Amino acid sequence: MASTVIKGGTVVTADLSYLADVRIEHGVITEIGLNLQGDQVLDASGCSVMPGGIDPHTHLEMPFMGTYSADDFESGTRAALAGGTTMVVDFVLPGQGQGLMDAAQMWHNKSTRANCDYSYHMAITWWGEKVWEDMAESVKAGMTSFKHFMAYKGALMVNDDELFASFRRVGELGGLAMVHAENGDVVAELTAKLLAEGNSGPEAHAYSRPPQVEGEATNRAIMIADMAGVPLYVVHTSCEEAHEAIRRARQQGKRVWGEPLIQHLTLDDSEYQHADWEHAARRVMSPPFRNKKHQDSLWAGLQSGSLSVVATDHCAFTTEQKRYGLGDFSKIPNGTGGLEDRMPMLWTHGVNTGRLTPNEFVAVTSTNIAKILNCYPKKGAVLVGADADLVVWDPQKEKVISAKGQQSAIDYNVFEGQRVKGLPRFTLSRGQVAVVEGRMQVQQGHGRFVPRAPRGAVNQALSAWKELTAPRPVQRSGIPASGV
Ligand code: URP
Ligand code: ZN
Ligand code: ZN
Ligand code: ZN
Repeated sequence: MASTVIKGGTVVTADLSYLADVRIEHGVITEIGLNLQGDQVLDASGCSVMPGGIDPHTHLEMPFMGTYSADDFESGTRAALAGGTTMVVDFVLPGQGQGLMDAAQMWHNKSTRANCDYSYHMAITWWGEKVWEDMAESVKAGMTSFKHFMAYKGALMVNDDELFASFRRVGELGGLAMVHAENGDVVAELTAKLLAEGNSGPEAHAYSRPPQVEGEATNRAIMIADMAGVPLYVVHTSCEEAHEAIRRARQQGKRVWGEPLIQHLTLDDSEYQHADWEHAARRVMSPPFRNKKHQDSLWAGLQSGSLSVVATDHCAFTTEQKRYGLGDFSKIPNGTGGLEDRMPMLWTHGVNTGRLTPNEFVAVTSTNIAKILNCYPKKGAVLVGADADLVVWDPQKEKVISAKGQQSAIDYNVFEGQRVKGLPRFTLSRGQVAVVEGRMQVQQGHGRFVPRAPRGAVNQALSAWKELTAPRPVQRSGIPASGV
């Protein structure tokens, strides 16, 4: 039986760091201990052996704003592995009137060349009986998290009545409700007004989506989820207003999680003032980059635990695609890349600065989301029996980020010129060594779909609480005689 041993490193998990070797057989971890022997030995001296990153927010080959995002499951998962990420979770986006399982099949067709494991969230992009029925099929097929767009009016957006109906259905099925929280009606009005006033450049994209519209929608989603009795995951939390809503909800005992992106943590809104149109347009995404006050809030949220996961929302468009919006910012395809850079950027700006401990780094890049999505400890863990999705992390290894030589298919990188310290020495996908010191050894098609079960511990706890506190009629002994 061929075995691999990762030797001489420090195992770093979300709650513990200790010296140990890790043995892998048939794609899973079979032993953790000292002085292990194996057929293939990977030298981890001076390194941390951590669960591979999980990026729960990607859009690979996504049909959006008249085009398709440029990274597909092949280049996207290659970029992921290069940066130490060993699993991505993409969004199945049914077209208007399209059945959910039909759309899921389209996503399965796209992901056949994936280099690492992947899972899917199902998006609720329209509402009707068919969707209600298909949601049960989606859960049976392992897609238990349901994303709702409160923005992109006239395209992906759903209204509050649909949101409430869908959230109730998700709750009943034991799934997870997810939202892109921005007030789409207000964004549409602000966009029209800005354009009418001659504000057509990429900087106006940021003016059309201020923090208040995100804060309002986050509060609204939290209230609707509470009424529906469903756990809620808020994607790309970018500002203090949204963070405040999540923080407050969590303090009230609500089951709500927030997900800042590495872009929002490390890049600010001054990017949109750049004299070069292309520089600014390449950074157009929703929500837009914010100022330092908001960035400090997001970092504090990761430190205190009020924010739980760092993702990328990897949705990469080429410069040529961004140019669709020349003369009208509302036509610039929304999205930025980051799959290859999330882990090194977060280590550099988080761990190397002392904002995060290495264990907190593992929690927010891998373990927390594995628990939220109910695929822990198959993923997100260094434990016997867990998948050997691992990164051997060299804290001394440095590079300057550049589009030249990156795995992503696009022609630029929003982190261009940033020096990072802390990079993978090896990345392993289910035991297969996919990256060695920056050299790619990926196997196209090695990635497998990860189905996830519904009714995790949080769903059970929330259901018990909602049942206990549900309105009940008062049992009265006698009914008073009616009026005079
Ligand atoms: O601008 C973004 N974030 N593009 C991808 C779609 C979404 O809203 O997540
Ligand atoms: Zn064997
Ligand atoms: Zn979004
Ligand atoms: Zn997204």
